[in-house]
Amino acid sequence: MDLEQMRDSMRLILKPSRYQHSVGVEEVACDMAVIFDYSPEKASMAGILHDCAKELPDEELLRECEERQLPISEVERQCPYLLHGKVGAAFAREKYGVTDPDILSAITYHTTGRPAMSLLEQIIFLADYIEPNRKPLPRITDLRKAAYTDIDLATFLVLENMLNYLKEKKAVIDTMTEDTFYYYQKLLKERERTV
Ligand SMILES: [Fe+2]
Ligand SMILES: [Fe+2]
Repeated sequence: MDLEQMRDSMRLILKPSRYQHSVGVEEVACDMAVIFDYSPEKASMAGILHDCAKELPDEELLRECEERQLPISEVERQCPYLLHGKVGAAFAREKYGVTDPDILSAITYHTTGRPAMSLLEQIIFLADYIEPNRKPLPRITDLRKAAYTDIDLATFLVLENMLNYLKEKKAVIDTMTEDTFYYYQKLLKERERTV
């Protein structure tokens, strides 16, 4: 499937606001790819498809994982929406013909991030957070500026925002998000030390 066909599919299966969000993620991801010297087409594909499994209800997300014998953690069982990345990557491969491992892993990890992300994983993780259709977020201008200039700093700031928000809401926090936060915190500290 080419990019245009992927967009058409997403327009059909996603609710309008989510389709709008996906187009926003695609555009931001494409811009970031140009800035950081990555394939704009791969970034666009990952961007438009990243939420392709997000309309699925919890029970279905769990079932899709079980059918494919994909591992489900304790936190994911409590908050099955976290599985939409993993299931989304499976759908990208099976329904949209994506074989590129970079695109598939960027879709898999877009919700929580992971320590030592690849460039495309970071691009999608950040684009998902800063795309212009999202409602205003704390420090959004700083986050956007960092996303286009210093990708590791942006990753750290977004994770900090996410954890603050989840703690404020007393929501369940995926250990992967915390691990990712500590990884980028350490990376930035080490970077400061070597400057
Ligand atoms: Fe998502
Ligand atoms: Fe998203």
